[in-house]
Amino acid sequence: MGEFEGKSVIVTGGALGMGGDTAVEFARAGAKVAIADINEVAAAATLEKMAAAGTAGIFIHGDVSQAAACRRVVSEAAGAFGGVDILFNNVGIQPPDSYTNVEGTSEELWDRIIGVNLKSRFLMAKYVIPEMRKRGGGVIVNNASVQGQQSMPGVPAYAASKGGDLSLTRQMSLDYAAENIRVMAICPGTIDTEMVRSIAREEIGSHDEDAVAERVAQYGKDHPLGRVGTGLDIANAVMFLASEKASFMTGSFINVDGGYMAMGSWASGAGADA
Ligand SMILES: NC(=O)c1ccc[n+]([C@@H]2O[C@H](COP(=O)([O-])OP(=O)(O)OC[C@H]3O[C@@H](n4cnc5c(N)ncnc54)[C@H](O)[C@@H]3O)[C@@H](O)[C@H]2O)c1
Repeated sequence: MGEFEGKSVIVTGGALGMGGDTAVEFARAGAKVAIADINEVAAAATLEKMAAAGTAGIFIHGDVSQAAACRRVVSEAAGAFGGVDILFNNVGIQPPDSYTNVEGTSEELWDRIIGVNLKSRFLMAKYVIPEMRKRGGGVIVNNASVQGQQSMPGVPAYAASKGGDLSLTRQMSLDYAAENIRVMAICPGTIDTEMVRSIAREEIGSHDEDAVAERVAQYGKDHPLGRVGTGLDIANAVMFLASEKASFMTGSFINVDGGYMAMGSWASGAGADA
């Protein structure tokens, strides 16, 4: 019997990237998983992987920066599975044209990034918590970033959204601890996903996927462990936090970053000279 047999999970942005890989691993562990996303084609492929891994899931189309979509995602998942136990608030965007300072950031771009990366955390939690209460508890894992702790020039909206994810995690953990609803965050370093590949494509000005993979591998040299992370690295951390093994953890975050946050800006990564 899988570790998450009998559990029901919602993953936002679950069609691709870390969300997709985490959905597949939850399905492998016996959970019923609803993936909420706007990409139907990628979602169909992920549903196939979930079924092949052992448990069929469902896809709910919706832009989770919008309240109506979040309400529908929760009610359809709860209706299909009889409740909701775990929410991986994962969805996020970092558009290649968003690398600029506050003066260069349009109000529309600011609202879009904050809407997807932060407001969706609030909205999904708002509608899922009543379902978790019916089950006697639950776990919410918010996908923040190392960029919620330290930053780089030119990412004001993204950095603010990720700092907000960490602050909201602390807040919700306090407000719902007495109801056995734990709220944690993860802070990934660079993970090889579509988000990072699209940034690499922009940087090198090419769609040659071998060259893109080479650029992504170079990002790994900045991490003390000398590589970028994988969706499986993230799935493992999320599933640990969602499990009973983490039953005394709430209100904090863990870095899944190959040692990135341990390293001072004066130091160079283990793989830097390789
Ligand atoms: N990739 C990294 O290196 C990295 C590092 C730190 C944090 N993160 C964070 O991890 C999370 C996942 O990132 P990823 O790299 O897997 O991204 P990704 O771009 O590979 O996948 C994101 C998924 O979200 C979906 N999506 C986008 N906007 C949506 C919306 N409004 N409503 C519903 N679905 C939507 C996309 O269709 C896609 O399936 C994000 O919150 C991101 O900020 C990523």
